[in-house]
Amino acid sequence: MKKALSLVLAFAMALSLVACGGSDSSSAAAGGSSAAASGSGAAASGEQPVAGVCWYNFGDTFIANARNTLNEAAAADGTIKVIDADSQNDVATQTSNMNNFYTQGVDYLVLNNINNNAIAEIIERGKEEDVTLIFANTNSPTDEEFAMYDKVYHVSSVATQSGTIMGEALVKYWNEHPEMDRNGNGKLDYIMLLGIQGHYDTEVRSSYSLQALADAGIETECVQETICNYQRADAQNQVASILQARKDDVDAVIACNDDMALGAIEALKAAGFFADEDSYIPVVGVDATANGVEAIKDGTLLCTALNNPVILGNSVYKLMTLLNEGKELTQENLGMDGVTVEGHHININYIGITADNVEDAAY
Ligand code: GAL
Repeated sequence: MKKALSLVLAFAMALSLVACGGSDSSSAAAGGSSAAASGSGAAASGEQPVAGVCWYNFGDTFIANARNTLNEAAAADGTIKVIDADSQNDVATQTSNMNNFYTQGVDYLVLNNINNNAIAEIIERGKEEDVTLIFANTNSPTDEEFAMYDKVYHVSSVATQSGTIMGEALVKYWNEHPEMDRNGNGKLDYIMLLGIQGHYDTEVRSSYSLQALADAGIETECVQETICNYQRADAQNQVASILQARKDDVDAVIACNDDMALGAIEALKAAGFFADEDSYIPVVGVDATANGVEAIKDGTLLCTALNNPVILGNSVYKLMTLLNEGKELTQENLGMDGVTVEGHHININYIGITADNVEDAAY
């Protein structure tokens, strides 16, 4: 707990705070179960350091898994109290949730940031509040932004790897299956399904997947690129409408996550694909969610890239406990497999998953 003033403010806030999410007792920044609202005032109790976590969307499959892991790590260890809030994919809600956490006097602010135009401002505010800022599963601050404040960290998967994994899977399929060129134009015609606009994962996954195809000398053509905010239903609707107009021109679907890939597969099935061997069409995704892995097993999803939410949640928690003990972030101190520590970055590696190694998708 940082500031005595926060105690008073947090109590005052308790009467009015309804904006944030929070679905269990350890994640209670809002609603009826709010730490502030319940008057337990963990952030203000002085007993335990408190981390406020702003997730961009509790309903997102990957985020739900990471959130669960982080909350479970906190509950099992008990050193740092974790409270969290749902930004509901809305910048204003994120800002209001952050303000609530500052008011509660949190020691750590973990931000699955969607306000990518305001990273410098966010850091400035964190510095004023003397709160450790951990950007999680989101765009990294630039070197200049890191230089603004020494208590800034970034924990995220190495998005470039996931793009390359998707692209290379398509290269392999294209080379082994000349019939993949459905309209015979000599080009790999693709639909690109993007997540949140401007989100690093979306930008890098789309560009690196195409780069892998270009590097293999495969000419590509974009049938349509469309933003589906990482959401399955959006992808299903949008692919259905693209297929109505251009069904015969599509050779593959590149989806920046599994949920969108699964939505695309539903739309493709409805349009007559995946009925038999001859109507197969490659779809690639990222995350290796439980449903994504099922789709690999049932032969619809060609490839995914394991984005490990357990490593993400545990890395964030371990980082906070290290800092709490006054230790430095180093590879050795963090002691996590599958990650690389570089300065204030924790970079999580992906693993490519196909039908050949589906067992590696376990986490
Ligand atoms: C990505 C993940 C997506 C979505 C997104 C939200 O890393 O692959 O499925 O969860 O993060 O920020």
